[in-house]
Amino acid sequence: MNIVVGVTGGIAAYKAVGVVRSLVLAGHSVRVIATDAALRFVGKPTFEAISRNPVNTDLYEGVSEVRHVAMGQEADLIVVAPATASFMAKLAAGIADDLLGNTILASTAPIVLAPAMHTEMWRNPATVANVALLRSRGIHLVGPESGQLTGKDSGIGRMSEPDAIVDAALAIAGRTRDLAGRRVLITAGGTREPLDPVRFIGNRSSGRQGVALAAAAAARGADVTLVGANLEVDAPAGVTVVHVGSALELSDAVHSSAPSAHLVIMAAAVADFRPETVVESKIKKDSTGDRMTLSLVKNPDILHDLALTRPDGQVIVGFAAETESDRDALLELGRTKIARKGSDYLVLNTVGWTVGFATEGNAVVVLNSAGDIVGEASGSKLSVADRILDLVS
Ligand code: C5P
Repeated sequence: MNIVVGVTGGIAAYKAVGVVRSLVLAGHSVRVIATDAALRFVGKPTFEAISRNPVNTDLYEGVSEVRHVAMGQEADLIVVAPATASFMAKLAAGIADDLLGNTILASTAPIVLAPAMHTEMWRNPATVANVALLRSRGIHLVGPESGQLTGKDSGIGRMSEPDAIVDAALAIAGRTRDLAGRRVLITAGGTREPLDPVRFIGNRSSGRQGVALAAAAAARGADVTLVGANLEVDAPAGVTVVHVGSALELSDAVHSSAPSAHLVIMAAAVADFRPETVVESKIKKDSTGDRMTLSLVKNPDILHDLALTRPDGQVIVGFAAETESDRDALLELGRTKIARKGSDYLVLNTVGWTVGFATEGNAVVVLNSAGDIVGEASGSKLSVADRILDLVS
């Protein structure tokens, strides 16, 4: 692989030499891009000798070969170790005022960052927000670990060891293209069932888990269609997005894309019922007296219908969000549900007033059609998405 190792200006830059060394010994072609600050910690000759390649630092070198774009385009993997708080802030903002920033912005390769900084800087709200933004864009983080920091203090912020960074980066790059050539249809968000032009019956799904699945599938090379119902988060770049409102709109969008999909993941929270009539103008409170009765009719069960009409070889994944907190009872609900729905897998999680919705993390159990547990995952919604794709791909 062609690997770019970015080195930014922190004391952990001395450990970047070990990262470069391991990648070269594993047979990869490595180009180091060091920032000016990084070269105040470790000299250029060290990186040149270890990487067996010239080290580039300057945006204005090699202009005739458009180097700032070429290195990013040619890279199969970009690893930045150490990634300082300042570097991550610039990356989150899309600032490209040096060769490393330009290279990353010009690349579609997987990006792995190994942060290193003091605990206070890692916990600073600016860093926390930047890390969340970078993760939501599909950028992978390895570490930081807890342990001895540069001074006498210790805590979270220590850069992961070089071998851990290399193992994680190569694993990410290795699975990156396993969905190349596959068409994947993903639903996300929560449907809204209109009562009148102003009101709806809805649910608290934000769409984060489905959007993370779309980002992860796209990063693994899939051709992704995301049917998003009232998403509260931005859809990832590089996927085809169809925005819908109600369950019936979601049903139409799904049925038009599903026949050509290899994999369908129904992560959306679809309303089981909708108001029987949608009133054309705003319902007035005076028109109903002190009590109002709504008549609801059942929506089609899209997942169930998909499973009945699926083309040969199509894999279908359903979701079940339940308020049941007892694990055995939750699993029993899941087993009953997958038998009724007819999907190949069911991703089961507990939701409640404070868990599951609009949160950054998630914890799921995945069942197969026989009701057996095939895997579990917890962590960021992106890492859960990757684990689900590992299980079903
Ligand atoms: O029955 P329940 O709503 O818990 O099932 C959840 C799963 O079924 C999810 O995958 C959801 O996207 C899907 N579903 C559907 N059509 C409905 C209701 C839910 O496809 N009307």
